[in-house]
Amino acid sequence: MNQKTSPSAQKFVSMSQCNRPPPVDGRPRTPSLRAGHQNLVSLDDWSRGDIENLLDVTEDIRMHPSEFAYSLAGALVCTAFFEPSTRTRTRLSFEAAAHRLGAKVLSMGDMQSTRIGLGESAPDTLRMAGYYADIVVARHSQDGMVEQMARALDVPVVNAGEGLHHHPTQTLIDLFTMRKHFGTLDGLRVGISGGLRYSRAAKSLLAGLRAFRDVRVHVVDAVGDVDAARQECVPLTQIAGAGVQEHASVADMLGQIDVLYAVRVQREQYRDAASYESQLARCRVDLCLLQGLRSDIVVMHCLPRGGELPQEVDDTPFNHYFRQAANGVAVRMAVLQRCLGRFRLTTAVPMAESLRLDIRPAPFITTSVAW
Ligand code: CP
Repeated sequence: MNQKTSPSAQKFVSMSQCNRPPPVDGRPRTPSLRAGHQNLVSLDDWSRGDIENLLDVTEDIRMHPSEFAYSLAGALVCTAFFEPSTRTRTRLSFEAAAHRLGAKVLSMGDMQSTRIGLGESAPDTLRMAGYYADIVVARHSQDGMVEQMARALDVPVVNAGEGLHHHPTQTLIDLFTMRKHFGTLDGLRVGISGGLRYSRAAKSLLAGLRAFRDVRVHVVDAVGDVDAARQECVPLTQIAGAGVQEHASVADMLGQIDVLYAVRVQREQYRDAASYESQLARCRVDLCLLQGLRSDIVVMHCLPRGGELPQEVDDTPFNHYFRQAANGVAVRMAVLQRCLGRFRLTTAVPMAESLRLDIRPAPFITTSVAW
């Protein structure tokens, strides 16, 4: 990591010194710890220790996957994605994570086939899942809805992406990927480009980065036509909190960052192709832009991507976004274990015996992981 700070960076307030923006709806957050299990609704109340512990367990899982192969044996994980979408990374990786921990999966993929299509509320639908499964992984397009589900259910609820603000497991993947590359998250200089105001992954990343020391954040925002037309377009600092430095284009911030985190410039926010293209031009991360840069700059993207990150970057050393996506399974394995309060084989063996499952884990010497 290049530790040099540019003159403009020196006037920064680091993220950890900044107040968090208030909850969007003004309501207090659901406590994450309840009745012996933990919800994961947002990272707002996660300490640095919580995050580092999760990342440590993720690393442990990556290094010793077979030791975790039965740690959720007997558990049922329900994935409920209320956001109509063909986007599947999060659901697939959660389901892969559950299988790799020995759990079984109930997948509610097509909500039109449920009573939701007839007007049943999402919390009511999910309440049933909560009676049948041990943990629910939920995505919803509406802000506050996953939190409402967490209040309604007696089993842990994991937020797999909610509205415009929260995508905590994506952030844990992002932080894991950054820490793996740089060795630490302290002192990182992160550039976020492509429409932070519309990206829950980007806002959630800011919440996660706030837990670390001396993190500097640079942003190239892309303002959609509706927002741009408003006389008082919400300023970036109101969305992201103080301490971020705004730039006119990605090229402007390149010399000041270690990580370039691109998010999709959302075509649907722009009334026509010309308007979209003009925003895209400020945020596009292509070979032309990257040529001549030191190759230790890490390009990340939460995917799916659009025109802001052309495929020509895939075969360069800058590409860390596929590795980032691949890290999703191990991170989500750690999340499922944490939320269910389960650790390694220490609980799986007695559970398997009580369920008379034919499970013969290898005779590892196991140590419980302290959460
Ligand atoms: N990054 C992410 O949330 O992708 P999906 O919408 O494909 O799950």
